[in-house]
Amino acid sequence: MAVGINAMPVTFAAHALAVIAAIMVLVWNISYRGGLAWEAENKNLIFNLHPVLMLIGFVILGGEAIISYKSLPLEKPVKKLIHLILHAIALALGIWGICAAFKNHNESGIPNLYSLHSWIGIGVISLYAFQWVYSFVVFFFPGGSSNLRSGLLPWHAILGLFVYILAVGNAALGFLEKLTFLESGAKLDKYGAEAFLVNFTAIVTILFGSLVVLTASAKSPSSIDDADSYSYSAI
Ligand code: HEM
Repeated sequence: MAVGINAMPVTFAAHALAVIAAIMVLVWNISYRGGLAWEAENKNLIFNLHPVLMLIGFVILGGEAIISYKSLPLEKPVKKLIHLILHAIALALGIWGICAAFKNHNESGIPNLYSLHSWIGIGVISLYAFQWVYSFVVFFFPGGSSNLRSGLLPWHAILGLFVYILAVGNAALGFLEKLTFLESGAKLDKYGAEAFLVNFTAIVTILFGSLVVLTASAKSPSSIDDADSYSYSAI
């Protein structure tokens, strides 16, 4: 499972898209939606934490964790540590982001878990947590036998990419859902600046996710001719 391109330039493009997507979601929620708060009379401000934490915390940091093996010129054990720490932070921020959506619903009298987006969201965060915990035990501490590690490695890579693609798709579904609510409830202009901002944030997110998947399937920059440098064998 390897694409014959050098991963490094792809990682630079991915970092650039990550910065653009992060700025766009912050501008949307701070300038257009009134800001972010954990405690507020205006419950919409609590909801606004959800897209910000899910995009910057979960999708972007999770993507950076995946490409860290290909983007950092460091020793393998250091990259492994960075990979698992970034994933832990992404998971924690993702859980916080979902709590913000629940808090907003509970304090506004809105039912929980009624949408496809929310069901896929619970599936994604649960699979992500499952993937992190068994991988920590098998690949880091206490660590499995070398047979177990090499047997599980392809599963770790394929499940990781599968969950990540689901997360990116679900984030796009979330943008669509929120924009549809705003257009039907708050009568937001369908061709207005805010609608374009939200749709383009989703597009940049999908482009970022695509480059993450491409990077994970590309050759490691350090040894282009070395078969061991392909995809997940770096773990
Ligand atoms: C992978 C990232 C995401 C995950 C895992 C996720 C997960 C969830 C979950 C579990 C809920 C249910 C909360 C409840 O029932 O109280 C929810 C609600 C919601 N999310 Fe997301 N979300 C993500 C990203 C986003 C993004 C980027 C947006 C963009 C605005 C968004 C918009 C919404 C909206 C509008 C709701 C409330 C309506 C509903 O429950 O479907 N989500 N999300």
